[in-house]
Amino acid sequence: MATSLRLFDFQRLEPDQQRLQLAEFKDRMLRRRTVRHFSDEAVPYELIEGAVAVAGSAPSGANMQPWRFVVVSDPAIKRDVRIAAEAEERQNYEQRFPAEYLEALEPFATDWHKPFLETAPYLIVVFRIDYGLDPERSTRKVKHYFVNESVGIATGFLIAALHIAGLASLTHTPTPMSFLSKILKRPANERPFLLIPVGYPASDATVPDIPKKRMDEIL
Ligand SMILES: Cc1cc2nc3c(=O)[nH]c(=O)nc-3n(C[C@H](O)[C@H](O)[C@H](O)COP(=O)(O)O)c2cc1C
Repeated sequence: MATSLRLFDFQRLEPDQQRLQLAEFKDRMLRRRTVRHFSDEAVPYELIEGAVAVAGSAPSGANMQPWRFVVVSDPAIKRDVRIAAEAEERQNYEQRFPAEYLEALEPFATDWHKPFLETAPYLIVVFRIDYGLDPERSTRKVKHYFVNESVGIATGFLIAALHIAGLASLTHTPTPMSFLSKILKRPANERPFLLIPVGYPASDATVPDIPKKRMDEIL
């Protein structure tokens, strides 16, 4: 394919504006928390669509954009997801998780019950697309590069955008998650990556009082 380049429309900011914009973004981002208690209050779909558009702008290996965001709002499908997720999580908590992991999970007071999968108005199910299918010859596979890294970055954009839109989210991994492919009828090249309930927090929502590492530990 011939290379086609165009001038980059870079917006150069004044130093004061650079500092101000970063300070504002940082203040807002540092207020983000993972929420596990949701209100059933409706959320305008345009906010979900806008956040997914931000996710879709993320960088990706060779620009393959190996992601799909499936938005679920239908109560019957949310119920199916809850039943299947709870079945897996019940086995995880009662049999599969080693003692060390159960201990690490203690601050979060989580168990196999996942009522938020029905309460939250939206579930965004993020799929990683392991390989593309040539639109002309659907049997020919197109290689995707750095799929995990790419979908992880896109999901970070998504979580940040939802937060900036004034919404709460939960990064959820009811593993193994293959039930999501079946319920949502996804093709063989798509694999569940994360399940993200989205909505407003319940009025009495609590969050674990856990610290973030200090700057000198991470920088
Ligand atoms: C990849 C990943 C998987 C996670 N899976 C779960 C999960 O299944 N259930 C849950 O309650 N929280 C889950 N979390 C949320 C983390 O517990 C949470 O991000 C962490 O405790 C830090 O809290 P904060 O997001 O409020 O800063 C997950 C987070 C990540 C990044």
